[in-house]
Amino acid sequence: MNKQVFGLIGLGVMGQNFVQNVERNGFSVAVYNRSSETTEKFIAGPAAGKNIKPAYTLKEFVDSLESPRRIMLLVKAGAPVDATIQQLIPLLDKGDLIIDGGNSFFTDTERRAKELESQGFNFFGMGVSGGEEGALWGPSLMPGGSRDAYKEVEPIMKAVAAKAEEDGESCVTYIGPGGSGHYVKMVHNGIEYGDMQLIAEAYDLLKQALGLSAQQFHEIFAEWNKGELSSFLIEVTANVFKKLDEETGKPLVDVILDKAGQKGTGKWMSINALDLGSAIPTITSAVDGRILSSQKEERVNAASILTGPTKKYEGSSQKLIDAVRDALYASKICSYAQGMSLLKRASEEYNYNLDLGIIAKIWRAGCIIRARFLNDITNAYNRNNELPNLLVDGEFQKTIDARQDAWRSVIKSAIDLGVPMPAMSASLAYYDSYRSERLPANLIQAQRDFFGAHTFERIDKPGIFHADWEVK
Ligand code: 6PG
Repeated sequence: MNKQVFGLIGLGVMGQNFVQNVERNGFSVAVYNRSSETTEKFIAGPAAGKNIKPAYTLKEFVDSLESPRRIMLLVKAGAPVDATIQQLIPLLDKGDLIIDGGNSFFTDTERRAKELESQGFNFFGMGVSGGEEGALWGPSLMPGGSRDAYKEVEPIMKAVAAKAEEDGESCVTYIGPGGSGHYVKMVHNGIEYGDMQLIAEAYDLLKQALGLSAQQFHEIFAEWNKGELSSFLIEVTANVFKKLDEETGKPLVDVILDKAGQKGTGKWMSINALDLGSAIPTITSAVDGRILSSQKEERVNAASILTGPTKKYEGSSQKLIDAVRDALYASKICSYAQGMSLLKRASEEYNYNLDLGIIAKIWRAGCIIRARFLNDITNAYNRNNELPNLLVDGEFQKTIDARQDAWRSVIKSAIDLGVPMPAMSASLAYYDSYRSERLPANLIQAQRDFFGAHTFERIDKPGIFHADWEVK
């Protein structure tokens, strides 16, 4: 009997779509799901007539796969991944490969890789981005694990991944060892949080300053999507503004409660960045923005107590719209600069040997942060693979230079009107900090030495110093 080439466990929407994508690209598939009802429905529905073989026990599933087996898990991150692996192990042969395609925390992936590799199995943590549509028609894939094991699945992954418009290249590459694939996916998600918050702030300022309608916002974002901001998230935003609520007839966005949810990947990135000592203030502001938004009841109470400015915006509407577009782009560059710097730092810390230019390349299509501007990031790394920060690339430097007056004017308007722009302000402060030859940390060092004898270095000679701060 012919065995199936690829196995998938976990028939949620992502799993069902991914499997159809694999099969459409000419690879036979076996599927297993904990509840057999879901499997039956899938086989009778979307999988009908396709080379997708159902299995109703894990043994039947494992036996139906050719060796070395390639088994992908799309189950909930956390304990379900460990539980599934534990059930699989007694049924597998050495050399078989398990791929975890969920949003697992990278240290869990490191641990699982070590455990499984020590028992002779191969293990991959693979970031999968692009939501349900991406899984079906072409996601961006970030696989991390042993390079040799990747060869076993490379043709499948290359076939199913999204293809970049510019050159038709598949949006997948071998990322690196251990948990690197999930690490890169975590950074992708943090950047996603930053992008979303920056877009929301742009909307908020324009709404509060100019009182624009949903239709006007639709037109503005659709216009922005034709230029340098062209990206999936700007396109999604433009489309969000078109949708009317079926119950009230109002724009749906206006009846949605302003409490943002999160599953934690952005928060993980902020925690890890603090651990590694790499500043990502825009992304952390985005996480904080979601947290503050979720404290709705407290905010409603505070709104009736705390005051802000009463000023109205009096300038030209079009001028503000254009300035916000420029501020959004400059802020976005700073946010990606932070994300890429963290990747660089993590690559050193965990020996991931990441190629930042290629990572930007595989984000060009399929994933949530796909954007025209990712080509510019790849080009920057092609010019200098050792770039310490995207901001010092000549082209990005010029791009920011041309927009910084507008950027500053937008933040000033937000301050004058009392509109919170935490992520945009954080981007600007990052830019101003990074370009400062001298920061006020001399004073912090003096304070530390004053109250705790923590010592300091001097600008005029090497060594470690402590002063007697008592002034006689
Ligand atoms: C993707 C997304 C996805 C993520 C959701 C929800 O790349 O397809 O990043 O993996 O889970 O966007 O994330 P939050 O619930 O944390 O907003």
